[in-house]
Amino acid sequence: MKFKNKKILLGITGSIAIYKAADLLRKLTKNYGADVQVIMTNSALRFMSPLVFETFSGKNVYSSIFDEGYVGTRHIDFAKEADIVLICPATANIIAKAASGIADDLLSTIILAAGTKTVFAPAMNVNMYKNPATMENMDKLKKIGYGFIDSETGMLACNDIGKGKLTNIDKILEYLNMTLNGTNKLKGKKVLVTAGPTREYLDPVRYISNRSSGKMGLALAEEAKKEGAEVLLVTGPVSIDIPNDLETIKVESAIEMRDTLIQNSDSVDFLFMAAAIEDLCPAEYIDTKIKKNDTITEIPIKLAPDIVSEFRQKNKKTCIVGFSVEMNDGKERSINKMQKKGLDYIVWNNPKDDGVGFEHDTNEVTLFSQNGHEWFLSKNSKRNIAENIIKIITESGKNK
Ligand code: C5P
Repeated sequence: MKFKNKKILLGITGSIAIYKAADLLRKLTKNYGADVQVIMTNSALRFMSPLVFETFSGKNVYSSIFDEGYVGTRHIDFAKEADIVLICPATANIIAKAASGIADDLLSTIILAAGTKTVFAPAMNVNMYKNPATMENMDKLKKIGYGFIDSETGMLACNDIGKGKLTNIDKILEYLNMTLNGTNKLKGKKVLVTAGPTREYLDPVRYISNRSSGKMGLALAEEAKKEGAEVLLVTGPVSIDIPNDLETIKVESAIEMRDTLIQNSDSVDFLFMAAAIEDLCPAEYIDTKIKKNDTITEIPIKLAPDIVSEFRQKNKKTCIVGFSVEMNDGKERSINKMQKKGLDYIVWNNPKDDGVGFEHDTNEVTLFSQNGHEWFLSKNSKRNIAENIIKIITESGKNK
């Protein structure tokens, strides 16, 4: 296990399990080389001195937005810079605040800004844990896509026996290892991922396109890279941040997307075709801006090339995963598409469902395979959905 160059924000709240957080921090920095920034709540400061955490992290510990030496919008920078925000121990209170979007101190503000990068390791009394309010808060956060390293059952500090005990440090380290380093499932594999929409120009300033944000494709590319693959992302015009270390080619039209994929198709092991190729292309491109008083009443349309089918014709060995956006008869239509286009798998999104598909940070999908298996992946962050798609496909293999 190594966390060199990994930035972890460790948020500590007021629970007696705090002593375990000190040991966790010591292991993260001293044994595994992580770069850890500790943030403590006011209650946490009553349990333990920040000096312990400053010594193990080698950095100042902050607890208030108004701390001396704490400038400007650093809470936003902390959230952005961290590869993961781990709240350990996480009290019922911080979970409730996160579930309600409350940002009334430094840690809760960071959690709100970091969103689904945050993972909670709860620690509390069994009655607090089992209280429907807490359970609902945890469910709500899980649905949004926040991570949880669940508590264990055992003897609690108050002498009650039940669920609420902070899980052991090794489990937390294992979770961080899986999330930050992956398990090299795609080591030595070449992976091509497409993302975003395409733009089909009518004249130099007008185009037909769609609402695809590229988030699902980016999540797949990042997960594949984490799993050790050599990844190339081919993306249409998107406004999401693409990490500098992810090899990327930007394209605009379906034709450019097709040419780029064909040029880069040599010995590709996996193609994740998450791009929403715009099928409706103006039949003719007019190379000066069409004027208002030009009497255009119709735009003749032609269809874009079916890129993934062309790719399949040329590359029989690649394991190809297509994506399908369908509302009515989605299952049948998606499976038909998989057969027609020669895909190994197809991922069906139903954009009618809340928080699913285009532009959202979350998704809920069903994955179908050539040999008739199906997997329902319930609503979660696109990163989590991508992780699970890769897990299933690497375990099931081509054409299964
Ligand atoms: O648009 P459709 O539902 O047919 O898309 C299914 C799959 O086919 C997607 O993976 C998409 O990227 C791909 N596709 C393509 N070329 C097109 C249209 C879609 O490769 N012209």
